Amino acid sequence: MKVTPASVTLLVVAAFHDLCVAVPAKRDDTSIPTDIQILNFALTLEHLENAFYTQGLEKYTQQDFLNADLPAWARGRWNEIAQHESTHVSFLESVIGEQAVQPCTYSFPDTDPMSFVTTSFMLETVGVSAYSGAAQFLSQSDYITSSGAILAVEARQSAWINSAILKANPWNTAFDTPLDLNHVWTLASGVIVSCPSSNMPLPVKAFPALSFPAGAQPGQTVQVSFNATMVPSVPPQLYVAFIAGLGATFVPLSAQNTVEIPSTLQGVVFPIITSSSTAVTDNVTIAGPAFLSFHFKADGEDEL
Ligand SMILES: *[C@@H]1O[C@H](CO)[C@@H](O)[C@H](O)[C@H]1NC(C)=O
Ligand SMILES: *[C@@H]1O[C@H](CO)[C@@H](O)[C@H](O)[C@H]1NC(C)=O
Repeated sequence: MKVTPASVTLLVVAAFHDLCVAVPAKRDDTSIPTDIQILNFALTLEHLENAFYTQGLEKYTQQDFLNADLPAWARGRWNEIAQHESTHVSFLESVIGEQAVQPCTYSFPDTDPMSFVTTSFMLETVGVSAYSGAAQFLSQSDYITSSGAILAVEARQSAWINSAILKANPWNTAFDTPLDLNHVWTLASGVIVSCPSSNMPLPVKAFPALSFPAGAQPGQTVQVSFNATMVPSVPPQLYVAFIAGLGATFVPLSAQNTVEIPSTLQGVVFPIITSSSTAVTDNVTIAGPAFLSFHFKADGEDEL
């Protein structure tokens, strides 16, 4: 099925929201990734971030930042972030040793300082979800401790970008969102062009990309698009699982691929298309995730 924009009026609106707590992503196959595979997965993401900052800070000068109305102190902070990512790379390389994967080639979406800022926010936020989602596969305690220490820095960076720079919320809800390895890979692989064939294969696969209209907000009914050609048999009823924190909110997807975004959502949300109204596991994932960031209380008012 190739999903195209519906030409009909949106007659079907999700009438109910099936609220359900979904256990943080568990893999549905029996192959448990090894510590080295997980560390190489983390290193792949750190290489990606490192390349993004190296390239971005080469492309955009201090004057470019100022011209984009970014504060004079902002670019220096990104230099610090770039140094952190470079340090994460060398740290993981030293832990993994000779099996450490090499950097890939990338195609980043940023074209100016502001899209550099929003891409940076997305990369750091997905990084947090990657580390928290992957933690369950680490068996060695010092790996768990060091990846927790990296996770915390990525969370601070993400919070700094969205609050100090984008003037929006510094956090999401009481819980951040641990993401399934394949869901992380679906987001990350979108900017990866190719990787060295000598790299250790990662225990991940990407699902078809899912996109929401730009600026979509909670409470709105919007049309989503995804390429479900790879799905062998698309079941009659699909859902959008809005994964946020330790749970997900399931909303039926209409036949025209429209969905009502729950008005209760705050902060960063990872929607996926599922064939289940209760699970967000790999075996029910049809497409996605997408990355949505709903700003709330941006002016500091206690509006809720
Ligand atoms: C998906 O995998 C889970 C185990 O992770 C299993 O409990 C569930 O029944 C599977 N669902 C389908 C639709 O195969
Ligand atoms: C959809 O998937 C098919 C098969 O994988 C591919 O050939 C096509 O280019 C994809 N289209 C889009 C828009 O991603």
